[in-house]
Amino acid sequence: MAPGPLRRRKGPGGHADPPPVPCSPSSSSSSSLSCSSSSSSPRWSSGLTLYLVERRMGRSRRAFLSGLARAKGFRVDDAYSPAVTHVVMEHTSAAQAARWAQQQGGTQGGTQEGTQGGPPILLDITWFTDSMAAGRPVPVEGRHQLGVPLPSAEIGTDYSMPAYACQRRTPLNHHNPRLTEALETLAEAAALEGNEGRSLSFRRAASTLKALPGPLTRLSQLEGLPYCGAHSRGVIQEMLEDGASREADGVRQSDRFRAMKLFTQIFGVGVKTADGWYREGLRTLGDLRERGKKLTRMQEAGVRHYEDLKTPVELSDVEAVRRVVEEAVLQVLPGANITLTGGFRRGKRHGHDVDFLITHPEEGREAGILPNVMSCLESQGLVLYQHTQENHYCTPKAMAQPASRTNTMDAFERCFSILRVSRPSPGVASRGPPRDWKAVRVDLVVTPASQFPFALLGWTGSQHFERELRRFSRQERKLILNSHALYNPEKKTFLPAASEEEIFRHLGLEFIPPEERNA
Ligand code: CTP
Ligand code: MN
Ligand code: MN
Repeated sequence: MAPGPLRRRKGPGGHADPPPVPCSPSSSSSSSLSCSSSSSSPRWSSGLTLYLVERRMGRSRRAFLSGLARAKGFRVDDAYSPAVTHVVMEHTSAAQAARWAQQQGGTQGGTQEGTQGGPPILLDITWFTDSMAAGRPVPVEGRHQLGVPLPSAEIGTDYSMPAYACQRRTPLNHHNPRLTEALETLAEAAALEGNEGRSLSFRRAASTLKALPGPLTRLSQLEGLPYCGAHSRGVIQEMLEDGASREADGVRQSDRFRAMKLFTQIFGVGVKTADGWYREGLRTLGDLRERGKKLTRMQEAGVRHYEDLKTPVELSDVEAVRRVVEEAVLQVLPGANITLTGGFRRGKRHGHDVDFLITHPEEGREAGILPNVMSCLESQGLVLYQHTQENHYCTPKAMAQPASRTNTMDAFERCFSILRVSRPSPGVASRGPPRDWKAVRVDLVVTPASQFPFALLGWTGSQHFERELRRFSRQERKLILNSHALYNPEKKTFLPAASEEEIFRHLGLEFIPPEERNA
């Protein structure tokens, strides 16, 4: 899309708004490359220079957004330079943003920054869209920021860390994103080949690196760290020496990995189905259509909404989903509680879906509400796909099962759905032609109040953190933990808990808050 003509527009009140962000007003002398002369610029625009990163945003969208901002009186530079105060990125994690900043010459985005002369502040697109809607730069809030600097420490030779990920704090933004991305690519590739053991080895090594207090710079620093096997060490060594891993790069470029990733990204398609299609010579969604592949109802919905579902869910989507879900739930069951869980509870800014737990303080009232909740959403035309399951949990029997069975799936009443979520500013917030809605994957899980802390702990993730928590319980404490309960199989007794903290106490573990469970 081509940028519109560069017009200068006043703020909503017809006059310039007061400066809402702490930008230094003294540096207004720098001449603007892209806006018209500073004499007619709104007062807030002095000392504020935006730069939009093309990567993950795309060239045409970047051009469109740049034009939009200029039309609203923002200075937007096309080239990155030290004059830039605000860097805007889309679909970019804080780790990726930090890496980008490093590549620009050691810049570290941070809270105190965003003034001329200092390093720029690294911002998510949400700050940009909020500012466009307001017609001026809105104050930077925590949720807008990508580049909060991490306190970094040298990893000494005597450094050690506990073996289980649930015994460690793992922040969302860590010091070794390039290394962990390589290892996680290899983990993903192994999982796509059905080799879970191999996949787990790479995941464990990546998880160890995520918990390090600083960047790993020498192989010798791995001494004494848990779960860095020979293969992972080799990958890390190559990354440290050459800055790249041939194996990870090779995987990323391989036909097999690309096709398997594309297929398994379809909602409802697992490794087996994807592998079958690959063996038949299929490579793209177009191939699926052409060959007239028979799809399940779930997969059909997955293909229909493929583009939307692979676009990361943003915080604004989470709020929109919460509003409609909460309204429907409260209509069906007044007094119910809705809790955000999953990756967004761990502080992620982007996710593949939105996860909610639903409960009611009076145990039993919650049972069987989902069909009515979904009907309520359906009557508003908001349901694009849904699959609701009844609760099939029967306590002692389920817990007496061998540990491996109880480890993976829980048995709550639940709904895997795709909802139609409205987006406030379609021209800015969506790719392609303007549309005022987007398909979003939503998981709803209903739990009796007495199981709520276990469900919350089990559904907050990360998946690796959960796996480790259960392994720790089993191996170190001889207890069985799942999303319903904590069970002592020897004594045949349950250990009840009124909070997540209490579950950690039962296990003799230090409490790890959700934001530090990004193992
Ligand atoms: N989970 C589960 N049973 C399922 C699906 C998920 O117990 N059938 C748990 C997993 O432990 C996972 C958490 O719920 O950690 C959230 O799952 P998911 O939405 O798949 O992952 P997120 O961590 O939320 O990541 P994303 O942002 O990609 O959604
Ligand atoms: Mn999720
Ligand atoms: Mn989910």
